[in-house]
Amino acid sequence: MLDPDQIKFFREQGYLVLDGVFSPEHISSVREAALHIVKDFDVDKHRTVFSTQDRDAGRDDYFFESAEAVHCFLEEGALDADGVLNRSKELAINKIGHAMHDLVPQFGAFCRLPVIGELLRDIGYHDPLLWQTMYIFKQPGIGGEVRWHQDASYLHTRPASVTGLWVAIEDANEHNGCLWVQPGQHRLPLRERYKIDWETGTGELEVLDKTPWLTAPQVPVEVTAGSLVLFSDHMPHYSAKNSSSHSRHAFTIHVAERGSHWSQNNWLQRPTLGAFRL
Ligand code: FE2
Repeated sequence: MLDPDQIKFFREQGYLVLDGVFSPEHISSVREAALHIVKDFDVDKHRTVFSTQDRDAGRDDYFFESAEAVHCFLEEGALDADGVLNRSKELAINKIGHAMHDLVPQFGAFCRLPVIGELLRDIGYHDPLLWQTMYIFKQPGIGGEVRWHQDASYLHTRPASVTGLWVAIEDANEHNGCLWVQPGQHRLPLRERYKIDWETGTGELEVLDKTPWLTAPQVPVEVTAGSLVLFSDHMPHYSAKNSSSHSRHAFTIHVAERGSHWSQNNWLQRPTLGAFRL
């Protein structure tokens, strides 16, 4: 599937963009499944907001339990000062996470598409395990900024073995809050570590390395629907607020090598569902 130049690029730059990997039918099956989840979501029962601006201090049981469930999280800008939704729920959801691949057949089928396993083996996986899926809406006008971070801060294995697969469900560009990366900077140390103390049920973002985020060139990853971006768990990445009138849906999949040690301090634990092999 990947040629040697693409594999070299991924190793040296820490990311890889592949256009047109998924058919319009595969993309719309995931999109429709996500919209169906939103339709069934009862906003009055769960008003948990997902924001990265508070350095993950606001995580609650609804968030932690989503490791083995399908939960919807709201955009910060979708609630007024009294906590009341200021728009329709279809335009208020930040993301759905984090076990759709186990619990929603369309997501499970998408993740099992042979191309995904083939690509992972091309970049060096022997036995990739799927740990987490997210459907991200990046809503028009309010889709929040996701600050610079490395995914290994949240999904930590020893040795480091996590890769993110970022599937464009809609076109993503600088106007609607596309992904940004810092090519080659995946070689730098892990800057932060989000650890959970399960006795108190609280998480804390610990600073490990004080290298500023913006010391290297950053590039926007503008892609069309159906494209795939692969990136290493140490790659600094970011996305701006979506101030445009167009949403920017994306579906993300995180995998790790079987046999690498999954930290007990990771927020994402799957004692019941486990991680499935791709
Ligand atoms: Fe990320």
